[in-house]
Amino acid sequence: MRSKAVLGCAWGDEGKAKIVDVLAKDADVVVRFQGGNNAGHTIKVGKNKFVFHLIPSGILYPEKICVLGSGVVIDLFSLDEEMKALKEQGVEFQNRFFIDPRAHIVLPLHRQLDGKAENDNRTTKIGTTKCGIGPCYTDAIIRIGVRFGDLFSRKYLTERIKNNSIYHLEKLDSLEENVEILFNTARKFQKYLLQVPYYLNSLKEKMILFEGAQGSLLDIFFGTYPFVTSSHTISGGIAIGSGFSHHLDRTIGVLKSYYTRVGEGPFPTELKDEIGKMIRQQGNEFGATTGRPRRCGWFDAVAARFAIMINAVDEVALTCLDVLSGFEKIMICTKYKIGEEETDQFPARADILANVVPQYTEMLGWNEDISRTKEFFDLPKNAKNYIQKLEELLETKITIISVGPERDQTIFR
Ligand code: GDP
Ligand code: IMO
Ligand code: MG
Repeated sequence: MRSKAVLGCAWGDEGKAKIVDVLAKDADVVVRFQGGNNAGHTIKVGKNKFVFHLIPSGILYPEKICVLGSGVVIDLFSLDEEMKALKEQGVEFQNRFFIDPRAHIVLPLHRQLDGKAENDNRTTKIGTTKCGIGPCYTDAIIRIGVRFGDLFSRKYLTERIKNNSIYHLEKLDSLEENVEILFNTARKFQKYLLQVPYYLNSLKEKMILFEGAQGSLLDIFFGTYPFVTSSHTISGGIAIGSGFSHHLDRTIGVLKSYYTRVGEGPFPTELKDEIGKMIRQQGNEFGATTGRPRRCGWFDAVAARFAIMINAVDEVALTCLDVLSGFEKIMICTKYKIGEEETDQFPARADILANVVPQYTEMLGWNEDISRTKEFFDLPKNAKNYIQKLEELLETKITIISVGPERDQTIFR
């Protein structure tokens, strides 16, 4: 089999879904391997806009198989709603959507705990999506989680939920009721149960596309801890989250032409001024899951090089270049200054990252509307210069340039 991965290399919302949508044309199977409905992946096809949270973006192609691997966390109620909405838009799921029995279930309690932690002003606020993602992965690690495959035996499910409740010091009064709700909700999902590792490893001659959620700087270990999500978002997470451990043929790192972040945490190149506002307006930078305005800033080549390194990115897909039309100058952060010292390393500690002084190189902007440009050579000279400068700084080829949300607003090199 052949395999490709599309991975966000910043703080999420890099435009992964648009790139997955473009590349899924040549894939047979599209796999999500981590995260949950905290993800918001937007695809525009003509007048239609689709927002995916749990379902792989490949589902829009009627003939593709879509899979949720062991590393994904599933909120059944959210999945149900998402599937309903897609069915209304004409998407079929029968025999082409599968879920690994090992995927953990986001319980109603996980959502409550997430909300409680976020609203407690004595602890560090992360700015989570409040989807219960952190508490669900926590329970998985401390071995009191409930997994997708557990939902289909009333007896085993009761045992699992009992363990969970006792750990969380919950009264067991409503144990039976909780089991019934989950057991009954789950029944309609039983037809999607599939041993994903056996399936993926048996695919000869097929192309598997792994769809990352969130981004490298939100990775539980390599991101800007504690301002991270709770899953392994980097390429290493693919084996853990799907059971497919072969060498990837191509790893495509997705980066926006500028940087954005939702939620709390350090963001060295953040623009809190009119320029930041202008990027937010031109790029319509509002979260697809929570509607929160995204913080906007210049491209950070220090952070990008780190992400490219830890993911072994082969090529970069650069998105939203059209959004930068109309800026007189465009800055790229090439190094950080910490005190008197310059560094090109991404600090491991959030408090250090919060205090770095970005060192910029200045590029000239362009005014032309590039959203209908089809060839690299037809881009304005300064846009080409910008891309070439990024390639030089990242030491990586930019093979895909996205100039709009639609499939045909894509330049291949
Ligand atoms: P993801 O989470 O990485 O899949 O990204 P999101 O879907 O959350 O956010 C990206 C947003 O940018 C979506 O609204 C996309 O439709 C849009 N988008 C993607 N590529 C481009 C592009 O090249 N130009 C513009 N203007 N918008 C884009
Ligand atoms: P996609 O896949 C952007 C952020 C949240 C918060 C932190 C932890 O659309 O790129 P969580 O709810 O995961 O515990 O929140 O991570 N976050 C995202 N930011 N895009 C996402 O997904 C995100 N998923 C989580 O805003 O800062
Ligand atoms: Mg998103």
